[in-house]
Amino acid sequence: MTMLVVGNWKLHGDWHSNAERLAALHGHGAVVPGVTLAVCVPMPYLQQAQQALQNGAVAWGAQDVSAHATGAYTGEVSAAMLKEFGARFAIVGHSERRQYHGESNETVAAKARAALAGGVVPIVCVGESLQQRQAQQTEAVVLAQLEPVLQALQQDAGRMVLAYEPIWAIGTGQTATAEQAQAVHAVLRARLQQDGASSVPVLYGGSVNPGNASALLAQPDIDGALVGGASLVAEDFLAIVQAAATPTGH
Ligand code: PGA
Repeated sequence: MTMLVVGNWKLHGDWHSNAERLAALHGHGAVVPGVTLAVCVPMPYLQQAQQALQNGAVAWGAQDVSAHATGAYTGEVSAAMLKEFGARFAIVGHSERRQYHGESNETVAAKARAALAGGVVPIVCVGESLQQRQAQQTEAVVLAQLEPVLQALQQDAGRMVLAYEPIWAIGTGQTATAEQAQAVHAVLRARLQQDGASSVPVLYGGSVNPGNASALLAQPDIDGALVGGASLVAEDFLAIVQAAATPTGH
């Protein structure tokens, strides 16, 4: 299976620093066989990403998308609008949006459906808090997050991307071990399989860096990475991409 490595820039960047980072990716992105590479940038910079990356091997996308196609929804951006700027992906249901913007599992499912309807691939994020992990609720939590998405997408479920991002590992430097991540990925894969969607790429996210990427990406059910902090440093991001190109477990 092709590996997928996606950078999530979050609320970082400006025109000048973006230009440098995009140029570095554009220069190197084409020479990594077996890896699809993408960056999810803040909305205003979609056109900058499009201009810098078009006709190359690196795809781009957004970090959110509206659940609605059109209408009186101030501040929202539809999948069709993203598509006009060449966006291939939209991250949906990132834990920061669930936490700070009150997005429910049902909202996330509606956004995933709207993304696909508009021709954009949703990267649906699931993941447990530290408290939930300690209470042995990890599997139940991620499955409960996934379920409404599968119901909303129905036979289109196979067209999404899933990302397991344990909240306690995001931005903390505390990565899940490869074994911890693989255990959850196997659960997610089994659930996807029930719906005939076992080919959905399941990415791992949470403090992925050049030092830990190889071990994570070598796990049989880890099909790539969703990278936050390390995606802001082009050489770190490209080192992770290289790790994805040479995993041992796939
Ligand atoms: P991190 O973020 O790599 O900085 O932990 C990952 C994410 O939130 O997608």
